[in-house]
Amino acid sequence: MRFDLMAGTAAAPLAPITRAPVVLVFDSGLGGLTVLAEVRRARPDARVVYAADDAAFPYGGLAEPVLVARVLAVMERLIAVHAPDLVVVACNTASTLVLPALRQRFDIPFVGTVPPIKPAAAATRSGLVSVLATPGTVRRDYTRELVDTYAAGCRVTLVGATGLAALAEAALSGLPVSDADLWAEIGPCFVEGEAGRTDVVVLACTHYPLLLARYQAIAPWPVTWIDPAPAIARRMTQLIGGPVRGLGDDSPGPVRAAFTSGDRLTPALRTALADRGVAEVAFEAMPLVLQ
Ligand code: DGL
Repeated sequence: MRFDLMAGTAAAPLAPITRAPVVLVFDSGLGGLTVLAEVRRARPDARVVYAADDAAFPYGGLAEPVLVARVLAVMERLIAVHAPDLVVVACNTASTLVLPALRQRFDIPFVGTVPPIKPAAAATRSGLVSVLATPGTVRRDYTRELVDTYAAGCRVTLVGATGLAALAEAALSGLPVSDADLWAEIGPCFVEGEAGRTDVVVLACTHYPLLLARYQAIAPWPVTWIDPAPAIARRMTQLIGGPVRGLGDDSPGPVRAAFTSGDRLTPALRTALADRGVAEVAFEAMPLVLQ
C-alpha cells in the first residue's frame, strides 16, 4: 500500500483560509511538541491545540488493529470538540499505519509524520544510514517501502527502540535519565565495518529530538541527525497557506493542550509545556480499553 508521504490524497492546497486557522497537533504523548514548535513558527497566527493520547502511550507497542481503532476513536472526539481546519499527526507510529483510515473517515486534511528516509539517503556519504524508531514503525510495511523506494542504494539499519520514547517523556517530566539507558537504545544505530561507518541517523519518532543534545554527547562519532519537523510544517503551509496578514504578529499565540489521561503531568512537565507555549491544559478522559 502506498500513500503520499505527508499529505496523502489531500495533496492539493485548500481554498485560502482568511481567518486564523485552527490546527490540531496530535501525538501519543509529548513527542509532538517537537513538531508543535515548527508549526507555531510557520503559522504564528494559528490557534493551535496540542492533543496527547497519553492514556494509550506508548503507541509503539500496540498491535496494528488496536492502534487503528484507538486513533480513529480519539480523533473523532478531538475533531468534534476542537473543529480543526487541519490535523498534524505528529507521530510516525500512527502516521505509518492510520493515515489512510483517517482520510477516509474525516473530511479535513491530515499532514502525517513519516520516517525521513529520502533526505537521509541524499545526505549520507558512507551509504550507512540508521533509522531510529519505535518497534511499531520499524515493523510497518510502509517503512520498508520507503527504504526500498528511496534508499535502495544504502545499507539501512532499522533500530526499534523499545523504551526511548518513555525516556524522553521521563526527562521532560523532570526525572533522571542515565547515559547508559540512552546508549542501550541508540547504540545499535552506530554501525562500523569495512565499508565505513554510519553517518546519518533518522529520528523517526517525534519524541526522539527532545533528547538530541544527549545523543550528541554520547555518540561515538559525529553523525547527521535528521528530524522531519521543519518539513512537516512546510507541508502544512503548502496546504493552508502562510500566516494571514494583520491577524498575528511574529510571536506565536498560546497553545491549548488536551490529554486523554494527564496522569503523568508533574510540575516539571507543566513548566516544560509552558516553556513551549502551552497556556492551558484540559483533559478529554479516554482510557484505553483492550479487549
Ligand atoms: N511519538 C511517536 C512517534 O513519532 C511514538 C511514541 C510512542 O510509542 O507512543 O512514533
